[in-house]
Amino acid sequence: MPKAKTLWYCSSCGNESSKWMGQCPACKEWNTMVEAPVRASAGGSSRTGAFGTSERHRPVRLQDVDASAEARVSLGNGELDRLLGGGIVPGSLVLIGGEPGIGKSTLSLQIPLHSPSLRTLYVTGEESVKQVKMRAGRLGGDPQNCSIYAETLLENVLEEARQMKPDLMVVDSVQTMYTEAIESTAGSVSQIKEVAARLLRYAKESGVPVILIGHITKDGYIAGPKILEHIVDVVLQFEGENRGSYRILRSIKNRFGSTSEIAVFEMTGKGLREVSNPSEMLIPMHEQGLSGTAIAAMLDGTRPFLFEVQALVSSAAYGTAQRSATGFDVRRLNMLLAVLEKRAGFHLAQKDVFLNMAGGLKITDPACDLAVICAVLSSTFDFAISSDICFAGEVGLSGEIRPVAQADRRVIEAARLGFKQIYLSSYCALESVKNTGIRIVTVPDVAALVKNLFR
Ligand code: TYD
Ligand code: MG
Repeated sequence: MPKAKTLWYCSSCGNESSKWMGQCPACKEWNTMVEAPVRASAGGSSRTGAFGTSERHRPVRLQDVDASAEARVSLGNGELDRLLGGGIVPGSLVLIGGEPGIGKSTLSLQIPLHSPSLRTLYVTGEESVKQVKMRAGRLGGDPQNCSIYAETLLENVLEEARQMKPDLMVVDSVQTMYTEAIESTAGSVSQIKEVAARLLRYAKESGVPVILIGHITKDGYIAGPKILEHIVDVVLQFEGENRGSYRILRSIKNRFGSTSEIAVFEMTGKGLREVSNPSEMLIPMHEQGLSGTAIAAMLDGTRPFLFEVQALVSSAAYGTAQRSATGFDVRRLNMLLAVLEKRAGFHLAQKDVFLNMAGGLKITDPACDLAVICAVLSSTFDFAISSDICFAGEVGLSGEIRPVAQADRRVIEAARLGFKQIYLSSYCALESVKNTGIRIVTVPDVAALVKNLFR
């Protein structure tokens, strides 16, 4: 028997090392190295070539490669298909991550039920066949072509898949699967890495698309190392509060389509319902504006939508003011507050500022700066901004309001939703949006914005 040797992995970035270290040399995180025994085995992935096939490939001239577009397979779910870039690509490995209870198993079971033409092998390592059957009963759809397989040994799963030759395989979850080739428990770093690598090899060799479910730790990492994200073709991550009923699925890596797209679902008694118009859920229904809120016109991937930014500004109870932001970078919030102080003369240093993005969204689009500033000022003055006004603009360090990408699409979406005014940068090029029925107010800088809106 080959001698078992031990490797150390960084649980944050996946860096591999032959000895333990306090600090990972790659990502500089402390105390992230975890031990994982490895046994070199014939079946291991270490000595095989690209996609794990052992046969030797020759270089091919690019012009000789068959360029016909890969036919994509629809998963019977419009939002999910759109997120993947128009359906799942045959032979791809798609990772769906999220915190426990957010709806990963529900979504992955809904796929075979709603696309009955696909013969699906649904492998469950977490629930019994009976539990899956009960869930399927709630979800409705057509269970004809879906086979449930409760198994955690990967070798058995792959053997079954080779015999059954399904059109789609779902594995719930990567943390419960283990392979005999490695001497550590299921869910350990080396097991997760090997299981994912083997599933990838199976997908590439057979052309069967594989959907892999992965848990996420509280810090937002897919449990096990980041390396899992490097192995798979597509990473979709559930985010949002799992207390509320809305779930956001974000594409954070996609070898076959664009990232930064999101899909919105609502958890109902009958599973996840597609929300194809997210603005409707993210804009509250109050008739009159409330102080401390402002609506941002934002763009996520290719889709414009509007949502509410909420701020609360109050006098600091203790010596140092608190700054807290949910769904928004707190450093960016501090920067915006400094701009307000320096460029528009608002003294917020002694104020606690709390910021919240509606619906548990995580915002990265800089176009939301303007709405953040307006929400903060609205709370400071206790002045409600009319609920038919929305904002799109990036704020620069000198207080200037900068143009945003694809402003016209935001304007059109805001007009479609019945907004009466949209605030944009004076420097926005707006050619195609005449006669949309919405008034476009352009402002050059923060001082002008304050004068215009809060006079
Ligand atoms: P689940 O898919 O089991 O989460 P995960 O696999 O990510 O851990 O989802 C579990 C939650 O969804 C659970 O709290 C119950 C709820 N749920 C519904 O509200 N409606 C439904 O039809 C189903 C199947 C689940
Ligand atoms: Mg589950």
